[in-house]
Amino acid sequence: MLGVETSCDETAAGVVTGDGRVLANVVASQADLHARYGGVVPEVASRRHLELVAPVVTEALERANVGLEDLDAVAVTRGPGLIGALLVGLSAAKALAWSRRLPLVPVNHLHGHVASLYLQPDPLEPPFVCLLASGGHTLLLEVRDRSGFDVLGSTLDDAAGEAFDKGARLLGLGYPGGAAIDRLAREGDPEAFSFPVARVPGLDFSFSGLKTALLYTVRDLEPEEVEHRRADLAASYQRAIVRALVERTLEAAEKTGLERIAVVGGVAANSELRGAMPDAALAPLELCTDNAVMIASAARFSPTVPYPGYLALDAYATAA
Ligand code: KG4
Ligand code: ZN
Repeated sequence: MLGVETSCDETAAGVVTGDGRVLANVVASQADLHARYGGVVPEVASRRHLELVAPVVTEALERANVGLEDLDAVAVTRGPGLIGALLVGLSAAKALAWSRRLPLVPVNHLHGHVASLYLQPDPLEPPFVCLLASGGHTLLLEVRDRSGFDVLGSTLDDAAGEAFDKGARLLGLGYPGGAAIDRLAREGDPEAFSFPVARVPGLDFSFSGLKTALLYTVRDLEPEEVEHRRADLAASYQRAIVRALVERTLEAAEKTGLERIAVVGGVAANSELRGAMPDAALAPLELCTDNAVMIASAARFSPTVPYPGYLALDAYATAA
């Protein structure tokens, strides 16, 4: 199975066998391109995907040591994501599949993140509760089988990764800032500042107030003081996000009666979060952030669209 992923600012292709062995995982990140704008610029992302998608697919096939003739199907992210960016990957995947009369497997990006757990050498067996925390999404999912999930809760405003990125920007750490906060927080005191996270009803999240709390704290400090206490600010801010994520995930496990907990998505790379959930199943680090291996993995458990019916298939921006 060849997977293609272009929903945001990573152009990715991957090759996975039917039993979940990863033969190739190629990711071209556009982060540097968008850094000067402080966030992903959709039209810039689409154009870059257009330049990168063919070479990235070629490299994935080369690394896997397979040709198009060895593939059984082509998998591609259909949504949710940036519509222009998605269309580039979808069109490329359609063309590749069509050229070989192969079936196409349209994949939900969120299902892809969950399916990063279904790969060798330790494929996770449902049922489990899954925290999916990325730059675009923060969701609690109930996973009963490998073909999908039910949503238990989600963020009412910012995603957890977005909270990391906005905090990083306030602390002058550049974009995307999750990993930078993670690094800096190791040198700081997580109890130095108290940043409360709003508790909303049910199993939902809210992170927008936290970002405002950091903004006010930074504004009330002298610039030298901010400079001097940057690590404490990062550590305290990270502590608040991680605490909210862990609390709600444990609540979800209790409510559903499911004992197994899994964490996926870009924020699952966070070292404090990984440390706070020692018994959780964690996606391997290189599969936490966006990649196409997870898309090919999800495709193994998704309906296939036979040749050539998929040529009219559209991408979708939101999960609706
Ligand atoms: O899953 P992902 O690559 O893209 C989306 O689907 O959104 O997640 C990217 C997000 C960014 O917000 C980034 O800051 C965050 O994951 N991230 C981290 C870490 N590494 C990446 N957040 C906290 N700690 C990290 N180590
Ligand atoms: Zn993602």
